[in-house]
Amino acid sequence: MCGIVGYIGKRDVAPLLLEGLQRLEYRGYDSAGIVVTSPKAAGLKMVKAKGRVRDLEAKVPARFKGTTGIAHTRWATHGAPSDLNAHPHMSADDKVAVVHNGIIDNAADLRRKLEADGVEFLSETDTEVLVHLIARSEAQKLEDKVRETLRLIEGTYGIAVMHADFPERIVVARNGSPVVLGIGEKEMFVASDIAALVAHTRQIVTLDDGEMATLKADDFRTYTTEGTRTTAEPTTVEWEAASYDMGGHDTYMHKEIHEQAEAVDRVLRGRIDDRFSTVHLGGLNLDARDARAVRRVKILGCGTSYHAGQIGAQMIEELARIPADAEPASEFRYRNAVVDPDTLYIAVSQSGETYDVLAAVQELKRKGARVLGIVNVVGSAIAREADGGMYVHAGPEVCVVSTKCFTNTCVAFALLALHLGRTRDLSVRDGKRIIEGLRKLPQQISEMLEREEDIKKLAAQYADARSMLFIGRVRGYPVAREASLKLKEVSYIHAEAYPASELKHGPLALIEPALPTVAIVPDDDLLEKNRAAMEEIKARSGQILAVAHQEQEKADHTIVVPKNEDELDPILMGIPLQLLAYHTALSLGRDIDKPRNLAKSVTVE
Ligand code: AGP
Repeated sequence: MCGIVGYIGKRDVAPLLLEGLQRLEYRGYDSAGIVVTSPKAAGLKMVKAKGRVRDLEAKVPARFKGTTGIAHTRWATHGAPSDLNAHPHMSADDKVAVVHNGIIDNAADLRRKLEADGVEFLSETDTEVLVHLIARSEAQKLEDKVRETLRLIEGTYGIAVMHADFPERIVVARNGSPVVLGIGEKEMFVASDIAALVAHTRQIVTLDDGEMATLKADDFRTYTTEGTRTTAEPTTVEWEAASYDMGGHDTYMHKEIHEQAEAVDRVLRGRIDDRFSTVHLGGLNLDARDARAVRRVKILGCGTSYHAGQIGAQMIEELARIPADAEPASEFRYRNAVVDPDTLYIAVSQSGETYDVLAAVQELKRKGARVLGIVNVVGSAIAREADGGMYVHAGPEVCVVSTKCFTNTCVAFALLALHLGRTRDLSVRDGKRIIEGLRKLPQQISEMLEREEDIKKLAAQYADARSMLFIGRVRGYPVAREASLKLKEVSYIHAEAYPASELKHGPLALIEPALPTVAIVPDDDLLEKNRAAMEEIKARSGQILAVAHQEQEKADHTIVVPKNEDELDPILMGIPLQLLAYHTALSLGRDIDKPRNLAKSVTVE
């Protein structure tokens, strides 16, 4: 969703900010803008454009010089994508400029009052109220003008503010929308996402909700919105700028699918304890006694992370014999759920910033629950809010659709299930069996990816379908759900996932030659049941593509996946279906890394 980048220092700011915006493109946006100034300049200079960052770049004049600047990519919430609605927004006297991520809930109210007072609005955005309020503040310091304004605001924000009378500073604030400072040598950066910073500095400070900061070229200070100084020790981010490059692939999705063997190796590294056939997960902050006291596990996430949670719940039930289930965080947070002190809650999120997941975590904590986070982005809001957790170490995922993070999250759940299982009744022998299975995964993923050409041919055959059905049973069902989400996100083909066991309770009515079915058919104790489901489809002339551990007679085509332990099979079975979605989308000419209407990080409701 929206992205912020800002800089203050000695360098020519516009090219720096445009490059920063490009690094944020993956988040999804519809317009962009930039404002710059310098201590010697007379006022602020601004350019905005609907469309891509390259459209903005084309509009930036040659003499657009400055050493202080802020820029933004907007994902429309209030008002359609347009030049006027793009950020930054500027006050009528051209003195104040603001970029904003988040939503101001009481914007309509504030706007009415300002308009009644004679203020003219140029855009339809909620953000513009901020600009006028800051401009009208009579406080002497920019920090106080911003602070006064924030007192009037209800809602979420990550903001960066510039003022023509204070060209040597940028003031930023955070409440529910990420703001990260990048600390350089006699230069400072700010962004909503470290992706925009790592090319310049890996020393970062992440603001907390309710925190503000003032950035000057050679200094920064952080304080609360009430004005109390806070301590902010910079930390070093592990991700390198090169991790954000395409690395010779045509799309990030392709690159990230191919990074999975290496990524799984990383999530396992240093965690396996062969001596006790278990794993070390120190970050959980859960000792053996706490682990044994858990009576239920409830997993919360959205989209792909929710599907990983469904796979995780299955693994926890199987290996630890603790009742477990997953629920969309977006639903959970609104249904006044009964919060039980003996339940372990787990929030799952690649970005660690998904608003619905964060709100669910906050609601749980308010009710005294223990919440763990399974997150990819280190230091993200959900990771910070949780009582403990695990990082999935997938590395940066740039494509809007998640692939390697999904796989690594499933592996993280396998580690957690093994850990919980070994504090209970999972035998040493079973612990060993799972560890051996986990160790085989990177090699098996590589073998799977070597079959890409075959999957590409299959994708070409199915790309004409107007709709596809995905079926699976028990372990296979969340795999079917994730595969169907992947296909619709990236190819725009309608897809629906159903438990194979439910076929004859309704969806069988849809079966005809034009509706292909993808059947997840692991070689486990439900193999014969899955074969029977395929028979039923075949008897009605449906086409079947099976994902299985051996060729399936009833299927028109089979993608054969290497066999692992039954409990871990879902991890490998998802991978060829990522490739199927990818090649289908490619043959249809879709914008693979940035599917229409979607954003990488959904930081608003
Ligand atoms: C993944 O392909 C999707 N873009 C989407 O479903 C995503 O998983 C969801 O928005 C949750 O994101 P998170 O993992 O960053 O919380």
